[in-house]
Amino acid sequence: MCGIVGYIGLPEKTSQHSALDVLLEGLRRLEYRGYDSAGVATVAAGTVSTRKKSGKLANLLAEIDAAPMEAASVGIGHTRWATHGAPTDQNAHPHLADGGKLAVIHNGIIENFAQLKAKLVAAGEEFSSQTDTEVAAKLIGQYFTGSAAGDLTEAMRLASSELEGAFTLLAVHADQPDRVVASRRNSPLVVGLGEGENFLGSDVSGFIDFTREAVELEQDQVVTITTEDVAIINFDGTEAEGKRFSVNWDAAAAEKGGFGTFMEKEIHDQPKAVEDTLLGRTDASGRLVLDELRIDPEELKSISKIIVLACGTSAYAGMVAKYAIEHWVRVPVEVELSHEFRYRDPIIDDSTLIVSLSQSGETMDTLMAVRYAKEQGARTLAICNTNGSTIPRESDAVLYTHAGPEIAVASTKAFLAQITASYLLGLYMAQLRGKLFQGEIEDILADLHKIPGKIQEVLDGGDQIRELAREMAQEPSVLFLGRHVGYPVAMEGALKLKEIAYIHAEGFAAGELKHGPIALIDQGQPVFVVVPSPHGRDSLHAKVVSNIQEVRARGARTITVAEAGDADVVDYSETVFYVPETQPLLMPLLTTVPLQIFACALAAEKGYDVDQPRNLAKSVTVE
Ligand code: F6R
Repeated sequence: MCGIVGYIGLPEKTSQHSALDVLLEGLRRLEYRGYDSAGVATVAAGTVSTRKKSGKLANLLAEIDAAPMEAASVGIGHTRWATHGAPTDQNAHPHLADGGKLAVIHNGIIENFAQLKAKLVAAGEEFSSQTDTEVAAKLIGQYFTGSAAGDLTEAMRLASSELEGAFTLLAVHADQPDRVVASRRNSPLVVGLGEGENFLGSDVSGFIDFTREAVELEQDQVVTITTEDVAIINFDGTEAEGKRFSVNWDAAAAEKGGFGTFMEKEIHDQPKAVEDTLLGRTDASGRLVLDELRIDPEELKSISKIIVLACGTSAYAGMVAKYAIEHWVRVPVEVELSHEFRYRDPIIDDSTLIVSLSQSGETMDTLMAVRYAKEQGARTLAICNTNGSTIPRESDAVLYTHAGPEIAVASTKAFLAQITASYLLGLYMAQLRGKLFQGEIEDILADLHKIPGKIQEVLDGGDQIRELAREMAQEPSVLFLGRHVGYPVAMEGALKLKEIAYIHAEGFAAGELKHGPIALIDQGQPVFVVVPSPHGRDSLHAKVVSNIQEVRARGARTITVAEAGDADVVDYSETVFYVPETQPLLMPLLTTVPLQIFACALAAEKGYDVDQPRNLAKSVTVE
């Protein structure tokens, strides 16, 4: 939530880049993190200049066109997802202090802002917004003009130590135009390293056009970037070093690549996302080797329970993981929404393995749940798509998905990559614990390696799905049913439709129908049914076919997603989308795809902004 970018380069004449260009390019790439308003501040000729505007980045660009800014080589930029205060021009960042000489932007929520504001008002500060950010700005300003005596780094450190909650703060000051200072607690921030220039971003996409070399920061740190240096200190004033890493994708990977929207592009990236996530995971003898895991294999052998923690789409990937891991490893797996987990006194000990699933690696609910589990003695493993992000950094082990940058707010390729990585984890644990024969593991892996080609087949047949989406654009409600691994797929199909097409949609376990939801079925009600493979447990397939008949008998319009050659569904479906055959447990990697295409096409048909749906942001960094 909120995208943050900072830049300092050599003075305008010699610099490769103008600060404004870098900031606006960074904001363009970070806009998926929040798009309620946007703003920039630059420092030139001893003055801080700001432009800010409610609405999307385009509004800010128009504002800058109308009132051009002076050339500058240092600045900060922000794209907002509102928490405190409505998304107005006034509440947009940056916020100013110290008589307009200090500009501050912020991501997160400052929990003690009301107490601090009361103190600052008593000290004579005046506020022009409803934001918690302005409180931070005024506090930094007070230190800058007081005990920190003109030292922005020290003012930031002292102010940050007083703040509670989650924040990334970036500041520039007219009296110290040679630096951008930032601090972070529980909110994302990475540094980008250049030649004679340095960058700050909520994530690396904020500066990927300019450098792929980056530095991770730890919790409770202040970083000062100048043209030549990156200096990090802890909130207690001690010096610290960041961990360097190189970004393994380039700017082109974060472009639309000829598609109309990022979501469409990312749906089409899925064969590669799965393929890359599988890449290099076996040794010459075909045994799985998960090098990045960093948990002693002996410990993994002694795990007595797994708890998967995640939110939203990632939690549905976790539900698929449960079916596969329990089946292959014979270890109980619980799947829990991160935000519910730590408030229910969960039973955890050192034989519990926490597996967190997060595309961004920054979801605050999941981060807090992982921290809680660690405190209780559990081992923690992150399945994550974002290098350098907080959740993997704070976990004992990490298994990276290699889906590449996911820009559309609605998650697609990260979901398939998370499922793929969960399968790898399950198979690896089964191998360690001797729960499957090596040949069985190799067979499953061989089938997994065929999945990218099969996803491509589904994509190639996308026109049939898009046509249906166009025809159904005016439907007020759509239901999704599934059983076994088809159940989380049904919920994911419903979530996609809710979040981008703003249609009421529900996903149900098909077996639950008769316990209530069947009452919703009326003449013409569209119902998608994710049909299990007829090659799996016989009874499962037969039961879902019965469910289709039950809803159809009550007037439903049935649309089925079934395995190629499944003739049993034809008589009871108005439309069938066939996906290629694979092992029953691997089916979600295929059956999800038509549902993604459907939601994407339907939202586009309704004229909605597919990539940036209302009220949402890509990375939920507040609880
Ligand atoms: C839905 C979606 C969200 C995320 C959820 C978790 O399309 O994108 O439901 O899956 O906010 O985000 P991560 O995976 O970044 O922790």
